Amino acid sequence: MAVRKLKDRIFEVGAIDWDRELFDELVHLPDGTSYNAYLIQGSEKTALIDTVDPDKENVLIQNLKTVHPKRIDYLISNHAEQDHSGGIPKILELHPETMVVTNAKCKAMLVDHLHIPEERFIVIKDRETLSLGDKTLEFILTPWVHWPETMVTYLQEDKILFPCDFFGAHRAASNLFVRNESKVLYGAKLYYAEIMMPFRAIIQKHLKVLEDYDIEIIAPSHGPAYDRPSCIMDAYRDWVSDEVKNKVLIPFVSMHGSTRAMVDHLTSALIDRDIKVKLFNLVRADMGEYAMDIVDAATVVFGTPFVLVGAHPAVVYAAYFTGALRAKVKHVGIMASYGWGGKVVEQVGSLIQPVKAEHFDPILSRGLPGEEDFKKIDALADIILERHQALGIL
Ligand code: FEO
Repeated sequence: MAVRKLKDRIFEVGAIDWDRELFDELVHLPDGTSYNAYLIQGSEKTALIDTVDPDKENVLIQNLKTVHPKRIDYLISNHAEQDHSGGIPKILELHPETMVVTNAKCKAMLVDHLHIPEERFIVIKDRETLSLGDKTLEFILTPWVHWPETMVTYLQEDKILFPCDFFGAHRAASNLFVRNESKVLYGAKLYYAEIMMPFRAIIQKHLKVLEDYDIEIIAPSHGPAYDRPSCIMDAYRDWVSDEVKNKVLIPFVSMHGSTRAMVDHLTSALIDRDIKVKLFNLVRADMGEYAMDIVDAATVVFGTPFVLVGAHPAVVYAAYFTGALRAKVKHVGIMASYGWGGKVVEQVGSLIQPVKAEHFDPILSRGLPGEEDFKKIDALADIILERHQALGIL
């Protein structure tokens, strides 16, 4: 438990989750995470921005008792997902005076998910303001970052943006402000990769809107706050842009060494052509790492044996994950080794259909690859080289 002071009469009162290992039961968290909540004491009214994951509700309650054992007029809900809204029912129970301030979509979701009574809400519209006396909150609707109801809150006088998930990073740290930018950007990219990437087109628009605001501090609801906002805003501009990097990812599985021989040959061929390549042996790969790399890789080549009548299930999962994230990769390839036959190419192709990419001709090897197969792999490396040159990334 700890209350951290952001500025005069502005406190971080949420919880650091040092031990959390998985997020969304999907990606590993090497550095834990945090659920930040912010208390703002105006000259007339007090507001709490977001709450915490239900598991950490007691930390929030205790922190509030320490710093502000008085009335809380408003509870601003930027996002209905439970890691930020989970503490709302308890706050409302302890503070019968508190009104939840949010947009109409978020209200509907909070009613559905947490059964919060309708009469406890004040519904605001895009760019509406709320006065706390000498401090003014402005609400900016930013749908699909990463749910349909998401919004951010801007504290005008102090020039602080409270964007909830937007710009957040999976990182448990005692320091309130970013001190190690590369570490925090790792956690921020992990967060972006897993949940924001499919919405990069709309996030581009929201970033433009935020350019009109004078922002001195970004205080997200995961990870440290940024007292140099350009650090994370520039990173986001890069991630959501249409630009890709000179990088080929090879997610693969090999059962008896044939697919591995193809993967190794392609890897050497790409290195010879000055193309960065990264292998993900899907038997043990960290899919969070894979998601981070797919944020800006130009090309993905899947490698799989035929299993039963299709691709290896781990490759099916990777292909589905790539499609679900709507990665901005420009080219997709597949190399497969088989014993008798099956529908690997069609299967993987349909799973990554949401990715708008050129599909290279597949390379299929019957059993252990031979000279002809290796020639095809060299030709594939030549095509990748050509495409990366055409993109101006090599
Ligand atoms: Fe951090 Fe979308 O919740």
